[in-house]
Amino acid sequence: MEVTRTFAETREKYRGRVGLLPTLGFFHEGHLRLMDMLRERCDTLVVSLFVNPTQFNDPADFDAYPRDEERDAGLAAEHGVDLFFAPDVDEVYGGVSVTTVEVSGVTVEMEGKHRPGHFVGVATVVAKLFAGLRPDMAMFGRKDAQQLAVLKAMTSDLRFPIEIVEAPVVREPDGLALSSRNVRLSREDREVALAISRGLFQAAEQVDAGERRGDRLESTVSRAIRHLDVDYVQLAAVDTMQPVPDLSAPAVLAVAARVGPVRLIDNVIFDFVDDKPVPDRGIFLDEPSSLTRLQ
Ligand code: PAF
Repeated sequence: MEVTRTFAETREKYRGRVGLLPTLGFFHEGHLRLMDMLRERCDTLVVSLFVNPTQFNDPADFDAYPRDEERDAGLAAEHGVDLFFAPDVDEVYGGVSVTTVEVSGVTVEMEGKHRPGHFVGVATVVAKLFAGLRPDMAMFGRKDAQQLAVLKAMTSDLRFPIEIVEAPVVREPDGLALSSRNVRLSREDREVALAISRGLFQAAEQVDAGERRGDRLESTVSRAIRHLDVDYVQLAAVDTMQPVPDLSAPAVLAVAARVGPVRLIDNVIFDFVDDKPVPDRGIFLDEPSSLTRLQ
């Protein structure tokens, strides 16, 4: 594996089809699973590590975001990454830098409402990564379902010739969705946070049993997380991210809530197979992740 710092030197080292996994670093088993999945699909696997300042609407969240480049590079090398692209802020934002990418519609609800400016930061940095690295495919996780919808819309609108590969949510054995932010949860808060996935799985069971009404599904989740500081519980269309009253087409049941100092998001996406909603609960680790061990 080679560590690269500029777009140009990274591109020089390509052979065959190039897969990109953009990340904010501080890798956990979720990232590592995604690397393994993308490794199978491409000849050159590029992982980028860039804690993008423009997508953190809260400066305290940016400062507190965990960072450990050396550890990340070691883990990436163990998982077959060819190029570990870790640019500095100047490589990404230096120069004139007066252009931003703003995706409308799909960014309005949920995260868009609660984190003003967040999606402009995400779309702009991913457009820069796409233009600078020019991969054939890029992988994004379903955990950030709205981000995925935003980036699919941007890729299609701006005619980037890049295949977007979706990866499932990766969960601890007890259901907690993996997030680098989990290391900031105390043991007690971690127990409290479990209510989020529990509520989502209860709603998924209701769907399996035939429930289709959005308000019923949202109430199930809201009840489960009533002790948390909740930003939203929303059933929304998976492509437009607009609220929907019932489950008659692919949709996401999405949650954002604060537990102690940490804001967590999670969701279950309902894919449709033979006209029936099929909940994607993600994949479960057999053993607690390294994040749990770090807590
Ligand atoms: O999901 C993330 O980790 C980030 O938003 C991304 C896509 C790497 C852009 O900074």
